[in-house]
Amino acid sequence: MARARPTATAAARPPPPAHDAVLQALPHPCALYDRDDGHLLRCNPAFERAFGALDEHVSRDALLRRLGVPEQHAPREAEVMAPHSGRWYAVHRGASGDGFELLTAVDVTERIEALNAQKRRQEKLLFTSRLMSVGEMAATLAHELNQPLATIVNYLNGSLRLVAQAGGPVQVERALQAARAQAEHASAVIARVREFVRAREPRRDAHRLDAIAGNVVELLRLEAERLQLRIELALAPDLPAVYADRVMIEQVLLNLVKNAIEAMREVAPPQRALRVEGRVNLDGDVEVRVCDRGPGLTPAEQGQLFSPFFTTKSDGLGIGLAICRSIVEYHEGRLFHEPRQGGGSVFGFTLPRAEGRA
Ligand SMILES: Nc1ncnc2c1ncn2[C@@H]1O[C@H](COP(=O)(O)OP(=O)(O)OP(=O)(O)O)[C@@H](O)[C@H]1O
Ligand SMILES: [Mg+2]
Repeated sequence: MARARPTATAAARPPPPAHDAVLQALPHPCALYDRDDGHLLRCNPAFERAFGALDEHVSRDALLRRLGVPEQHAPREAEVMAPHSGRWYAVHRGASGDGFELLTAVDVTERIEALNAQKRRQEKLLFTSRLMSVGEMAATLAHELNQPLATIVNYLNGSLRLVAQAGGPVQVERALQAARAQAEHASAVIARVREFVRAREPRRDAHRLDAIAGNVVELLRLEAERLQLRIELALAPDLPAVYADRVMIEQVLLNLVKNAIEAMREVAPPQRALRVEGRVNLDGDVEVRVCDRGPGLTPAEQGQLFSPFFTTKSDGLGIGLAICRSIVEYHEGRLFHEPRQGGGSVFGFTLPRAEGRA
């Protein structure tokens, strides 16, 4: 039991024994303060362990200041880190009618740390997906520029031959040679970019979808909990392995599930659920479907869906689906969208089976 400074009020109104018994039985740090002058009347052992080392714990206001709880915090709950222990607490103040104030501090360190770890992992994934799109943009650019550059060099060579046959003028010949040197230099740069992109070519292997989908769902579990959103995994039990680059397919599924979550921001919590289905389709390929109960898509949106930088979100880049599409097509699969029966969207993709390939 903490040292409680006796004061006039405390002496006049000691906490009833029932209060004390409850206090001692509570597993979280709890303390009873005088509501008016804020000095400590009673506290339980958990409170002693958590805050006893702080001199300020004998005064409610001093303790709250030390913990950094905002002066007039409303609602009367705040999440703060105790400076002396580094642990996080959800601090709650509840006044009772009889002149006492109960302060409880629930240790939420684990949740906060899990959230931070989750945030770091997501930032890393986002970074990977940006890197991948930069790589793809470079590959596309290199591919698109290679052809016209080769043509330019051909024309310049032809013109140089004609100038040589005509015997001048020498200024024109020099200009053409300079132009050819520049075009060849540009080709060399492009060739290096292509080599670099090729060096990090994906690695395809036999992978089980339940492992891939499990990873993605695990990654988004905390975010889903925060949004009171259920993610249901419904994969056919005998799903054959797919022939794929695991990291890339994780990226695709992550992007689709994130879009589905974002599409349900405005949906009431009971309907906030999404389903990841997996089955073998009529062509014998493995098909993954992400089904949400969001608003669906207008015909205009459907037309632009896969164009890079098309977004309807204030915080979106509009590259998620474009990346998904290029990854899926690289895997000889198909990315598709269809309206969901009963409202919402289905975004899905197909992948070849691994049998006979890996
Ligand atoms: N499940 C869905 N339901 C409704 N609309 C969707 C859904 N998925 C995608 N869209 C629409 O397609 C657009 C493009 O999606 P995409 O993933 O490419 O980009 P984004 O999510 O806006 O941004 P980011 O680059 O962060 O992924 C979205 O802005 C949204 O309008
Ligand atoms: Mg997206």
